[in-house]
Amino acid sequence: MNPADPVAPRPVRDSQSEMVEIVLPNDANPLNALLGGRLMHWIDMAGAMAAHRHARSYVVTASVDHIDFLVPVRVGSHVVLRSSVNRVFRTSMEVGVKVWVEDYIQDKRQHVASAHLTFVAIDGKGGRLVVPQVIPETEEQKRRYDDAGRRRELWRSEKERRKSLP
Ligand SMILES: CC(C)(COP(=O)(O)OP(=O)(O)OC[C@H]1O[C@@H](n2cnc3c(N)ncnc32)[C@H](O)[C@@H]1OP(=O)(O)O)[C@@H](O)C(=O)NCCC(=O)NCCS
Repeated sequence: MNPADPVAPRPVRDSQSEMVEIVLPNDANPLNALLGGRLMHWIDMAGAMAAHRHARSYVVTASVDHIDFLVPVRVGSHVVLRSSVNRVFRTSMEVGVKVWVEDYIQDKRQHVASAHLTFVAIDGKGGRLVVPQVIPETEEQKRRYDDAGRRRELWRSEKERRKSLP
């Protein structure tokens, strides 16, 4: 970070975060599988970590896009959540979170869920803050940057459509 210029652009790698949880009985339904709501909470936390690291400010969750739960996750499993900032707009940023379940006996990982969240940077009084732009460096980061722009356009056109409804 350049302390002289708090809005100087930063690479995606500065926001990359990893969070690991062990699924305990209190996180599970009666069939010993992880509750969807608990996973959504962890996704929000992992996303917020990346947003905080990038914006270096308080953030609030503005939206979470749809989440598919691809495989059940059993009690005792390790759940690995990786997050990073995909793209910054002005005061908001899109963060991607990808989740795996880790079988530490067989040393295997399986994709559990992915989500995109939008966070808005705020100061201590709730005022919006301009977020430093993010610099995608790898091909994958560039693809995510472009995809985030498309999702933003879809969200804006849907917002306009809803405004015009009676
Ligand atoms: C999120 C929140 C700050 C947006 O407030 P708002 O008055 O709509 O703010 P603005 O119109 O000034 O928009 C601020 C930014 O958020 C973006 N934004 C607002 N709602 C959004 C949404 N649903 N999805 C994606 N982006 C959104 C805007 O596009 C804008 O981005 P930009 O500055 O990068 O262009 C406000 O709705 C809020 O505080 N919500 C509660 C947040 C919270 O408590 N979350 C925890 C879960 S309850």
